Amino acid sequence: MMELNRFSCFAVVLCVTVIMAARSSHAAGNEFEVVKHLNRLNKPSVKSIKSPDGDIIDCVHISHQSAFDHPSLKNHKIQMRPNFHPEGVNYESMKVLSEKQETVTQLWHLNGNCPQGTIPIRRTKKEDVLRASSVKKYGKKSRVSAVAHPNSIDLDLINQSGHQHAIAYVEGEFYGAKATMNVWDPQIQQPNEFSLSQIWLLGGSFAEDLNSIEAGWQVSPDLYGDNNTRFFTYWTSDAYQATGCYNLLCSGFIQINNQIALGASISPISKYHSSQYDISILIWKDPEQGNWWMQFGNGNVIGYWPASLFSYLTDKASMIQWGGEVVNSASDGQHTTTQMGSGHFPEEGFGKSSYFRNVQIVDGSNSLRAPKDIDTYTEQPNCYDVQTGKSDGWGSYIYYGGPGRNSNCP
Ligand SMILES: *[C@@H]1O[C@H](CO)[C@@H](O)[C@H](O)[C@H]1NC(C)=O
Ligand SMILES: *[C@@H]1O[C@H](CO)[C@@H](O)[C@H](O)[C@H]1NC(C)=O
Repeated sequence: MMELNRFSCFAVVLCVTVIMAARSSHAAGNEFEVVKHLNRLNKPSVKSIKSPDGDIIDCVHISHQSAFDHPSLKNHKIQMRPNFHPEGVNYESMKVLSEKQETVTQLWHLNGNCPQGTIPIRRTKKEDVLRASSVKKYGKKSRVSAVAHPNSIDLDLINQSGHQHAIAYVEGEFYGAKATMNVWDPQIQQPNEFSLSQIWLLGGSFAEDLNSIEAGWQVSPDLYGDNNTRFFTYWTSDAYQATGCYNLLCSGFIQINNQIALGASISPISKYHSSQYDISILIWKDPEQGNWWMQFGNGNVIGYWPASLFSYLTDKASMIQWGGEVVNSASDGQHTTTQMGSGHFPEEGFGKSSYFRNVQIVDGSNSLRAPKDIDTYTEQPNCYDVQTGKSDGWGSYIYYGGPGRNSNCP
């Protein structure tokens, strides 16, 4: 770990140089690259829907999605449904939320739906790509410390990279994970920072070959050009280096669902000391085909990450994490005011703090169950913190988050 962290630090310096070089070349020569990239991402659509938040959702024929541009998926036979669906305790019917019991959906549905046989794709605009430091980096997480290293002995160096986490995690052999998380709209201090809340499924080491599947909600001005809370996914098979991306911004994830667009805004959002809205995410491995499937809410099977994208995850996940991550760029020499989750600490509890409830893992017999031995990790508990608990109604649960800068986190 010591070795790795030294290397990461070295990589930060390199990265900064590369980003600066890329930024300065934007104005002039890059136009052609950007247009080429947009043509790769935005496939011809059957229908387009203008969402109230300014997004355009393209309904693209399911067989024209960019997943099939991936070299290892050229002859892939699309799976229209999972062979297997893990069963376990079901807490979904609980009435603990808003009085109105509205279901959480996506904003673009106010203006239409995608027909059967198509999938909704958030159109990438030229501005989206131009906000990235380079065409190649668009849609990717920065390499350094995009994942928490709970076992690391040299936490100072992780601290320096600016990503901060407040997570609960388990280690072992896992074939899936599930949780229901409430949705918030954390304030972001500056556009190059973000705040996300997600489930991570990890395989391999934290070195060069980490495999990761991630899904949750995020606010990321750089990625989307606004402060909206969006449903997102991420994957990588080489520790955030060459492979993987957010949503459908590279070929990999295969979508089969026509209701939910990856990267689209979620509505409604929880309010402090008022209505709480939450979403459920289940990710599990099909024991026959090896593909990792994702379900949103109670019945929306969104699609899958083909087993062939991965090395370690072809077999199983060795760590699951639930929690938040923010970027603290500390640009003015102080801690960022970017919030995690609701922006309130775990002690405040229900209605005020952000939570994951019904936290479960899929075990070796492909059953959903509450995890044993949950640990927690956070770099600076005075800025963002995490607590775990258990109750009859909520099963295993986690409260996490915080305001960032405050008198105890200067
Ligand atoms: C996002 O929110 C910040 C304040 O939290 C504000 O300064 C900024 O203008 C907002 N960005 C957009 C694109 O609305
Ligand atoms: C991270 O850095 C902050 C301030 O720079 C320090 O107070 C904190 O103890 C560090 N955390 C860890 C886990 O090293």
